[in-house]
Amino acid sequence: MRWILGFIWSWLWSIDQSGRAFPSREWLLERTLANFDLPDGLPGLSVASPSTTRPNYYYHWIRDGALAIGTLVGQLERHDDQYSDRIRALVESYISSSRQLQIVPTLSGTLGEPKFYIDGAPFNEPWGRPQNDGPALRVMALAKYAQSLSVARNHRLFQQVIRADLDFILSSWQDQCFDVWEEVYGVHFFTVLSQYGAVKAGAALAKQAGLGSYVQAYKATLRKMERYINTKFLAHELIFEHSPIYLAGRCGIDSASVLAVKTLTSLAGWTEPINGPLLVNMTDVRLHNTIEFLNADFQLRYPINYESPGGVGRYPEDAYDGYTVSLGNPWFLTTAAVAETLIANGLIDEAHAHVKFIAAHRGEDSLSEQINRYTGYMQGASSLTWSYTQVLELLETINDLNLDGRHPIQLDEPTYEPSPVWTWARFGIV
Ligand SMILES: *[C@@H]1O[C@H](CO)[C@@H](O)[C@H](O)[C@H]1NC(C)=O
Repeated sequence: MRWILGFIWSWLWSIDQSGRAFPSREWLLERTLANFDLPDGLPGLSVASPSTTRPNYYYHWIRDGALAIGTLVGQLERHDDQYSDRIRALVESYISSSRQLQIVPTLSGTLGEPKFYIDGAPFNEPWGRPQNDGPALRVMALAKYAQSLSVARNHRLFQQVIRADLDFILSSWQDQCFDVWEEVYGVHFFTVLSQYGAVKAGAALAKQAGLGSYVQAYKATLRKMERYINTKFLAHELIFEHSPIYLAGRCGIDSASVLAVKTLTSLAGWTEPINGPLLVNMTDVRLHNTIEFLNADFQLRYPINYESPGGVGRYPEDAYDGYTVSLGNPWFLTTAAVAETLIANGLIDEAHAHVKFIAAHRGEDSLSEQINRYTGYMQGASSLTWSYTQVLELLETINDLNLDGRHPIQLDEPTYEPSPVWTWARFGIV
């Protein structure tokens, strides 16, 4: 009985998903922009997902909002087209609304307050707070945007929001807080690398705006941060451990480390004239080892990978299924970040498997948060903003690669034919 059902399922899947191509830039951008400027929200704010129940992601997370703005600012640098004015207007309203969020009284009482209602009201219920990566990501996104502005305007932008975030980072970067996945209280590679990128960007921006005393303060903090990151996170020669002091049943290898380096590179790569190159970059051998470890684990852990390898989850022990605690799954955004890192290392065939995985399991009209480890169908929050932006960044990297012409990745190839092995696998039998 089970195998008959399995074959029917597999046949349905083949009708539904064969030949699906990788999403286009317009497709991804339209869906990203649709999560901003909602009728009941402050202008420039976004929801993590439009989903209001099971799960409710209908909030403005400082992290998710800043990352989305960062990707959109990257679009301004790459393209000058019908989206440019729309994006500029959006970033301008994001700046005003962010100032409002900075001064609203919250339960954490700090700028590390992780999420707000989209009308700007504080979320005064229990939550993993604070999460100190948020202000750091906002600084990096806005400082990158400021590169396209006049000196006078970027001076104002600095005083309007960026300085307050940096004041907070300078006073709190050694404090513990919740991680990017909102689960672990401690110190985290993603958080501290974002804070480091923010202070570097702050120093570069203050220099451009002629604010000498700020430059000195930021550079002094940067030196301390570099020492701290070198001893706490970069001393291990083989891998990146994400939350080193957290000892409760995790191996410490986490795709958040991949996201950390990828995000730092995209948002703070331009700061190299200040204090030299970034402490870590996407060609770091420890990052490569971290990815190899994750891929080896997820290849065995997720049956869907037996037939269409390349699904990357958050970390091996993950049990959040997008609704509740059961078993973790591959995510679009972690899969995309891993693919991009492999491309940066010239590992195109390895990256291609991840690219195909995204194409094979994407929805016709949306990208959710996760992909079920047995069935390959999407699950968890629908239309996740971060899924769209991370896949868009991957698409731009593939486009650059294809322009180069030496080892292109075809984006319109047919995806996968279901096979019996895979049919068993989806029931957890293999
Ligand atoms: C990455 O860092 C290494 C060493 O830290 C350096 O040699 C290399 O040039 C950097 N690569 C890029 C692309 O910046």
